[in-house]
Amino acid sequence: MKPGNSLQGTVQVPGDKSISHRSVMFGAIAQGTTRVKGFLPGADCLATIACFRNMGVSITQESPTSLTIEGAGWEGLHEPNQLLDVGNSGTTIRLMLGILAGRSFYSAVAGDESIARRPMDRVLHPLREMGAQVDGRQGGRFTPLGIRGGGLQGIRYQSPVASAQIKSCLLLAGLQAKGETVVEEPYRSRDHSERMLRAFGAEVNSFSGGVSVRGGQQLSGREVRVPGDISSAAFPMIAALLVPGSQVTLQDVGVNPTRTGILDVLKAMGATIEVKETGEWCGEPVGDITISTSTLFGTEIGGELIPRLIDEIPIIAVAATQAKGKTIIRDAAELKVKETNRIAVTAGELTKLGARIEETEDGMVIEGGTPLTGGICDSRGDHRIGMATAIAGLIAKGGVTVHNADAINVSFPGFSELMSRLGKVHS
Ligand code: S3P
Repeated sequence: MKPGNSLQGTVQVPGDKSISHRSVMFGAIAQGTTRVKGFLPGADCLATIACFRNMGVSITQESPTSLTIEGAGWEGLHEPNQLLDVGNSGTTIRLMLGILAGRSFYSAVAGDESIARRPMDRVLHPLREMGAQVDGRQGGRFTPLGIRGGGLQGIRYQSPVASAQIKSCLLLAGLQAKGETVVEEPYRSRDHSERMLRAFGAEVNSFSGGVSVRGGQQLSGREVRVPGDISSAAFPMIAALLVPGSQVTLQDVGVNPTRTGILDVLKAMGATIEVKETGEWCGEPVGDITISTSTLFGTEIGGELIPRLIDEIPIIAVAATQAKGKTIIRDAAELKVKETNRIAVTAGELTKLGARIEETEDGMVIEGGTPLTGGICDSRGDHRIGMATAIAGLIAKGGVTVHNADAINVSFPGFSELMSRLGKVHS
């Protein structure tokens, strides 16, 4: 993309990725029909649909964003006769393992080369403690994985990292286990599973520091309306902040407080943002976000804020290059085990455009007030890196060409069209 007009208008971003995955999985294990509206038809969520179809669940996609799932309860899942392929999706594999851990059949699970590098022991270790037979390459650390579940016993697990994928995996296993399963985490991670499980009729107990479930619970199918993904909204939001004279409204975005760290940080940096809450969909608060071009200042980001904005750090880094002063991001070592090592790749790609970013062990230090120059970036197969570098192109002299931009379809199909609509931007 290259610099063009100011960005103006009101748009809707695609459905929330985390909530879309959960709607398919919870619909598949529930009794009865689940109808989903606003589903994200990105590659990751389509991989979730394919996996559950392989286990015998009837899922009809009436339109790209509308699904009907005919659940037949936990027992409705059958042994798949082929590999469960999760593609690029960490959420699919980690949450699905929690479901498979309670099923007595055998399944083999794998994904693409990025998935093969990401740690699976973080869920396999507690699942084994609950009684599942699970194994994988290098002593159970990496895919391909083999799993034969069943006979689970509830555990109390203190997770070393704040991760909704670990927490959700163990809640799903815990629902099938004997007794109670308790998951504690250092900071609260996104709580979409807790909210949606309750909406599907389960009893889930959240307390300060963690969450617990009793085993032996059945879910009931229902209607799910998926809000817009705040992680996708972050890209046009920051574009509007940086491109002079812009004002953009993003409608029907999920504003669950476990996800709105981006709003807190941008406000702390001086951004003019207005959030108007408009309702609650399936237990998730939804609102319209209006944002206009603002003078930004450097800030410090760490601690409990990190899980609330973990996926937004590459695009926050782009904003920080334009702020007055230094931005320091710490406590974000989890970025190293995302779709790419997002500390190294964000710093590497933005440095190509003239940004001044120092990588640290658990984050980065970004010198603001740096004019960006155009150039060629590579998504490295990571959707959020692809979009962050494309947005950098809107303020980089000469624009930015993004190689491997297809990766953007993982979470934001129609990204460049939406940006064009806002700015008649030349993509
Ligand atoms: C997700 C949780 C986060 C996030 C990912 C989606 C989820 O991962 O980075 O994009 O849907 O539960 P972790 O929970 O591993 O931090």
